[in-house]
Amino acid sequence: TNARITLVRDFTLGEVPRRLFGSFVEHMGRCVYTGIFEPGHPEADEKGFRQDVLKLVKELGPTVVRYPGGNFVSGYNWEDGVGPVDKRPRRLDGAWHTVESNAFGLHEFVDWSRLAGTEIMEAVNLGTRGVDAARELVEYSNHPGGTYLSDLRKQNGSAEPFDIKLWCLGNELDGPWQIGHKTAHEYGRLAQEAGKAMRFVDPDIELVAVGSSHSSMPTFGEWEHTVLTHAYDEVDYVSLHAYYQEDDGDVKSFLATAVDMDYFIESVVSTVDAVRAAGKHSKHVNLSFDEWNVWYQRGLDTDDQPHNVSKGWREHPRLIEDAYNVTDAIVVGTLLNSLLRHGDRVKIANQAQLVNVIAPIRSEENGPAWRQSIFWPFARMAELARGQILRASVDSDKYESAKFGDVDVVDVSATWDEDNGRVALFVANRGLDESADVDVSLSGFVGGRVSRAEVLGVPNGKDRFATNTLESGEQVGLSPLAGVTVTGSRLRFTLPALCWAV
Ligand code: AHR
Repeated sequence: TNARITLVRDFTLGEVPRRLFGSFVEHMGRCVYTGIFEPGHPEADEKGFRQDVLKLVKELGPTVVRYPGGNFVSGYNWEDGVGPVDKRPRRLDGAWHTVESNAFGLHEFVDWSRLAGTEIMEAVNLGTRGVDAARELVEYSNHPGGTYLSDLRKQNGSAEPFDIKLWCLGNELDGPWQIGHKTAHEYGRLAQEAGKAMRFVDPDIELVAVGSSHSSMPTFGEWEHTVLTHAYDEVDYVSLHAYYQEDDGDVKSFLATAVDMDYFIESVVSTVDAVRAAGKHSKHVNLSFDEWNVWYQRGLDTDDQPHNVSKGWREHPRLIEDAYNVTDAIVVGTLLNSLLRHGDRVKIANQAQLVNVIAPIRSEENGPAWRQSIFWPFARMAELARGQILRASVDSDKYESAKFGDVDVVDVSATWDEDNGRVALFVANRGLDESADVDVSLSGFVGGRVSRAEVLGVPNGKDRFATNTLESGEQVGLSPLAGVTVTGSRLRFTLPALCWAV
């Protein structure tokens, strides 16, 4: 396989939106409890935050973390999670058929976020609740003091406001599975009014309207159009969610998943801009891809599936703890490439989720924490994708996939960080059997050398299904990519079959 890539120093798409490297903590399964929070664990600090997990979170490098859901938020009372812990109510959570102890709530998440160095993206409940609860949560969080709610926050231990700038106006309300599911008209009006009232409390906040739960929703397109026709002036972003998996061994289509992400993003951009034109709005609404990942959605009767009610009401059960393999990591790398290639309009993205629940980081109760295969493309891109996004011109050999037709074998994104004088190139070889010779022309860059080159591929003696489990240890990871050369303004290297490299 051959691929020629051209990068031109001044041919850029704009600044890398650092919020593209976001993650997501939901009160679901073991993401919070026995994930980031486990009082009594040997590695937990006095607040119950697991330091072993926190160390891996810092290494992963998410910039912003969405909280507290997800489907969970559509039945959640934020007031249950503040105040003295022993007075907090135990509640049924209908979304995941679990019991919520509320031992972890808003103050705990704010404290944890400060330790993790991550921005907060807070979702309000627009499923069972509405305008009032939403604006009260903003007042509780952001108003300095001298009112009932802001003083209550002080009484509950935080003299300083939380200063949360980024807010989601609900979650997946287009989905019939959502508690408080709504029509686009119902939701559009509610988002408009809730957003308005929240901004009356704090004019500096940014608001994300709920978009489609995936691109094959029957209401996709129409939903965004109707919602924004109501709420265009009030919101700054519209959300997108997408989960992908390998279906029936069709690995070629699975490896080409980013084609669907490209299509989804470009369709939403068109819809948003059509509303802008029709409404004669001057501002742009951008995109927040606030849930994305690989997720193997098995039969609903499978033990760890969220809607399996046969187990009764449990506390933080094991839910959707997918073990990710080499192929999944490569797909995650290409999804990140797709997000970065659309960084002129996609300004926020959150991989779902952070720990245990379809997550790059795993932890066991009273046990260790470790990195899954998908940890690596995220960690490296979060670290290195800085400065300007370069528009890569790619001329790659193609392969045929059942779902997406002809697809580039080599997938690419690139950034140029003038401050550090560094070009970062993120590439995947989707070829199952063939290595790929890649020839990159770096126009306008002089005197370059290779400072680092790493590759994630099939480990020696294993196959593409290799995973990192408690039993196996971390067998899938990065290793040095040998033979990378720079001559003048040409960079050349060979990618082994089926790999992701930086
Ligand atoms: O991330 C898991 C779930 O997937 C979220 O709660 C929901 O928003 C989506 O359907």
